[in-house]
Amino acid sequence: MPTYLSLSDSSRWVALDESHARAMLERRGVANPQLALLPAAQRVEVVESGDNLRELVWECRRRGRTTGLVPTMGALHAGHLSLVETCLARNELAIATIFVNPTQFGPNEDLDRYPRTLDADLTALEAAGAAYCFVPSVDEMYPAGCTTAVAPPEVARRWEGECRPGHFAGVATIVLKLFHLAPTDDAYFGLKDYQQLLVIRHMARDLNVPITIHSCETVREPDGLALSSRNRYLSEGERQTALAVPSCLLAAQEAWTAGERDSRRLSNCMETTLREGGVSDIDYAVVVDAQTLEPLEDVGELRSAVAIVAARVGATRLIDNRVLSNPSTNADAD
Ligand code: PAJ
Repeated sequence: MPTYLSLSDSSRWVALDESHARAMLERRGVANPQLALLPAAQRVEVVESGDNLRELVWECRRRGRTTGLVPTMGALHAGHLSLVETCLARNELAIATIFVNPTQFGPNEDLDRYPRTLDADLTALEAAGAAYCFVPSVDEMYPAGCTTAVAPPEVARRWEGECRPGHFAGVATIVLKLFHLAPTDDAYFGLKDYQQLLVIRHMARDLNVPITIHSCETVREPDGLALSSRNRYLSEGERQTALAVPSCLLAAQEAWTAGERDSRRLSNCMETTLREGGVSDIDYAVVVDAQTLEPLEDVGELRSAVAIVAARVGATRLIDNRVLSNPSTNADAD
């Protein structure tokens, strides 16, 4: 898989293909970028044992080198790589993890067919400058007799929590295990999975995890579709229909900007946009409190609200969100 580097800028901007590279650089205001295939800066070292991972993170700490963790399930795209990039802006060493975590998939979900592209992932991580990649087996993470799990925080209850029972217990458990195996200074998660980010923040706070959690902006295709490992399941026609998902968030933003604060009307406007765009299998499309994800009638008094959506296009379930902030407030989930 080719990776691209911008020559018109001294920083390392990395993307998986030319169109992503151009879109990414355009967003950053780099005019007329020249692109080139990027040679890997270093070999990424693959680590399969949890004990070895913990030892090497401690060795980095003893040497005074700062480390950041980027947990993933692989099938990497430019969204994942942006987390590595953000990590390397703060930490000397980026440690990625690739593990398709069985405990966060429901019985009728896509665990077996979840894309596994390890060789391409390692090439991309290498180009992005990650130092290590932890690739454990299922037995390494869940040896026989491993029955303890994290009870996820309250913020996990609604939305994805209702649609995917057990999902956030699986996410919280694997992320806490990764935090124990890789006691890094920082860890990086995408706003793309907004509720997951809140669940991890609350879990880390409630269980006194001494790692700082950072959120990273959602990376999108030039037409607005959020990058996702599951986008590759979409047929050409479905890929077009999928644009209704970011469009419904834009519709909520426009209504919000025009002064609408009735959450039911904002949510209706999202649903109408989805249906008009040909998406009718909707799990939720709502505007809620950005901190608690609780529904409220009038979101006008809130520091910030968030539009969240989950819908199926064909057999593919897509999720996306957009923070709607009042002027002069901080819209981040921090
Ligand atoms: P995965 O879906 O592989 O995502 C790994 C990380 O990449 C998450 O923090 C996710 O929010 C972020 N991400 C995904 N798409 C993105 C995009 N378009 N822009 C920016 N960031 C994006 O999320 C998981 O894996 C798992 O649940 C995990 C946290 C690894 C636990 O198993």
